[in-house]
Amino acid sequence: MSAELKSRRKGRQPEPSSSPKKAAKQEEPSKTASVPYRYGPLPRFNGQRLFSRGVIIVGVVIYVWYFSKDGKETSLAKQGSVYNGRGVHVDCDEEYLEEIKRYSGCVPKRCGRYVSDVIVTDYEATTLLWLAKRGMSFGGSSGGATIMDLHSGALSYKKNFINMYKSVKTNFITPTDLRVYKDVRQKIQSAIADSFGLDVNKLFLTHPTFFSRLTSEAPSHDHDEYWHVHVDKHTYESFHYTSLVYLNDFRVNFKGGRFVYLDNMKNPRANVTVEPRKGRVSIFTSGAENPHFVERVTEGERFAITISFTCDSSKQIRDPSLSIKGGKSEERRRFADN
Ligand SMILES: *[C@@H]1O[C@H](CO)[C@@H](O)[C@H](O)[C@H]1NC(C)=O
Repeated sequence: MSAELKSRRKGRQPEPSSSPKKAAKQEEPSKTASVPYRYGPLPRFNGQRLFSRGVIIVGVVIYVWYFSKDGKETSLAKQGSVYNGRGVHVDCDEEYLEEIKRYSGCVPKRCGRYVSDVIVTDYEATTLLWLAKRGMSFGGSSGGATIMDLHSGALSYKKNFINMYKSVKTNFITPTDLRVYKDVRQKIQSAIADSFGLDVNKLFLTHPTFFSRLTSEAPSHDHDEYWHVHVDKHTYESFHYTSLVYLNDFRVNFKGGRFVYLDNMKNPRANVTVEPRKGRVSIFTSGAENPHFVERVTEGERFAITISFTCDSSKQIRDPSLSIKGGKSEERRRFADN
């Protein structure tokens, strides 16, 4: 007999035997189990119990995971990721749909929110960032939000606005800046048309379209309070589609300042964040399906452009352009508004 077999035989020793004496001996351990334990009976696991416990635990985990989405925020776009077009549909607000129905070719197939990091190039974003910084150096809000509108010439100045085309030598804007600005506007217009299934020629640039610089400064006027939840269409009636171009980076150039969508104004349960990234374009339908706000910036300066579109051709504005009136001197250079 081999050693292996011997040990196997030894291992078999507790095998139940037909002898009644041995059977009685075997029951002994279970007798001790009937003595009450100080902390109640010890748990006993057999296969079936283990399985049913497993089912309960998995069920609880799924339940908690599912319902924890309620009242928590999710992210549509992270600063460190590059999106080649990412988005979600939301049901159009009825009022919005009712109003936009009048403009054939401009009605969204579905309402929604999109981001893309492949529309605006780094060169374009850098050009526009420098333009914003140069322009804003001539003004600047005393609170946290500085606005510069190349179309109307409005520039925040302390607690008010000035018309920079009247009070500032505007040669800080180059023809290259304006070409880039227009190219970006056109590309975004096409992206909106693609995303929502529109005729690109039925969409028009509208007012206000502007650069913004947000900081952590205490507000000095209502305009400075950029962090309130709002619906674009309620603030600016002509808006149908809103786009944003971020010119610098969340967490790198500033802290706070994420863009946050809410599912509804009154009882927000599902906030969705977009983290600014240089050159990132964010587009959305401007109705009450997309209430949103910008978190307060806590550090640094956040630069972006808001480019707005309407389906109403009577609300169209032109791209800003350098026009030399009658070919006169540098002093006479001005920008054509609408
Ligand atoms: C969502 O945003 C609203 C508006 O700022 C806020 O009141 C609410 O607490 C936010 N919810 C979450 C889970 O962050």
